[in-house]
Amino acid sequence: MLARKMDASDLTRQEALLAPMYGSRELGEPVPRYELPDGRMPAQVAYQLVHDELNLDGNPALNLASFVTTWMEPEADRLMAESFGRNYIDADEYPQTTEIHNRCVNMLAGLFHAPSGEGAAVGCATVGSSEAIHLAGLAMKWRWRARRAAQGLPTGAPNIVMGANVQVCWEKFARYFDVEARYVPLTGERFVIGVEEAMSMVDENTIGVVGILGSTYTGEYEPVKELNDAIVALNSERGWDVALHVDGASGAFVAPFTAPDLEWDFRLPAVRSINASGHKYGLVYPGVGWVVWRSEDDLPSDLIFHVNYLGGDQPTFNLNFSRGAGQILAQYYNFLRLGRQGYTEVMRTLEQTASHLASAVACIGPFEILSKPRTVPLVCFRLEDAAARPYSVFDISSELRQRGWIVPAYTMAPDAEEVAVLRVVVKENFSRDLADMLASDLARSVEHLEAHGPSRHGTSHAGPGSSHIRAAAPAKAHAANHRRAHGVC
Ligand SMILES: Cc1ncc(COP(=O)(O)O)c(C=O)c1O
Repeated sequence: MLARKMDASDLTRQEALLAPMYGSRELGEPVPRYELPDGRMPAQVAYQLVHDELNLDGNPALNLASFVTTWMEPEADRLMAESFGRNYIDADEYPQTTEIHNRCVNMLAGLFHAPSGEGAAVGCATVGSSEAIHLAGLAMKWRWRARRAAQGLPTGAPNIVMGANVQVCWEKFARYFDVEARYVPLTGERFVIGVEEAMSMVDENTIGVVGILGSTYTGEYEPVKELNDAIVALNSERGWDVALHVDGASGAFVAPFTAPDLEWDFRLPAVRSINASGHKYGLVYPGVGWVVWRSEDDLPSDLIFHVNYLGGDQPTFNLNFSRGAGQILAQYYNFLRLGRQGYTEVMRTLEQTASHLASAVACIGPFEILSKPRTVPLVCFRLEDAAARPYSVFDISSELRQRGWIVPAYTMAPDAEEVAVLRVVVKENFSRDLADMLASDLARSVEHLEAHGPSRHGTSHAGPGSSHIRAAAPAKAHAANHRRAHGVC
């Protein structure tokens, strides 16, 4: 369509002021960055300022670092836009939103084989898996404490056992809620929890053990069934009641569809609670997570608050009070829209794209694929003989960034920090076509680095003596990269 040529008389005064968006007086004057401006500005100008500034961010569609959904169907977008003003906590005013939330919890409890029965599931929506984990951790702590107190035993030193590869939210839980964190160290070959090693750390003060269904680092599923069997045996031998929590932030929305026979959920008796991120493979925009308990017995009643719901009682257990309802409604939309069949198709496609990309990466050159098929659909790989190469995975990540791809490089958790990897999370909007383009750019980056070395400033790619510098640089970068890996979601 051609723009119609207008002269000034066509415009009202207001339009004349607002129409020249760029070069308008408002944009010609400095806008305070850290102070509330004295005056106002036209809506279009404010919009343009914010919009333009966001161009400096990465492109979410090329953000292969994040597990979080960057695309939903237009109908879901519409539902969410219609719900911007709807506060989830106002159960009295929005009873149908509460009903939809309860339906979602029940659908998830069914998916995870909770024995609670239809309509009686115990769980809630959260802002993400982090909040879900804090709630599940609190429930474990409360149960442990009540049991100990009833036996007249000390309750001052609870601990929780987990792999050193846990996401940072577990470290937060332990620190914020005064629980000793016991980390099972990784090794150069084992990047997830070791069952025997974990069991050796469990004692009478252990509130629970964490099994991760889909490690943030590699996507690998931790051996949840083996953890369950060991905990069941230990509990019966010692008369303890150590709980197993499954951190299914990613995998709880993948395994039920791609590995329905894998036993990781409430089919295992020691599993008392499960968290899942609706905004990861639940395929909803950020932020929604879920936590589901096995039964009412696993969620102590004194953690639950009661709000008035249509003159009745609405139990709530959340860290925050107000939150947007849109993500919960969008989760319900996905459940209706996709059903088991749709989720299975989506997850299988993601799996195929991940395996296609993994094969391409393995062909490109000196890479070892660490991610495993039939787990979280991602590709995690490291440089073979990394120490002998004049460039690192961090250099590859920087090269790819020049083309717009956001592919994080990071070192593994303690004690496998010497292993540095790249990770590509495969999401719904990452087509096979894009995977091929990424593979071509990766091949070009490797070729360039092999021929010219890293293009960064400084001496870290220098010749003799550089091993010292190379050793120092990753060590310095490690803390930041370790944090990034932990925080990347
Ligand atoms: C295994 C695991 N647990 C917990 C989290 C935290 O999830 P959220 O971002 O939903 O709070 C993540 C995020 O990546 C994760 O990978």
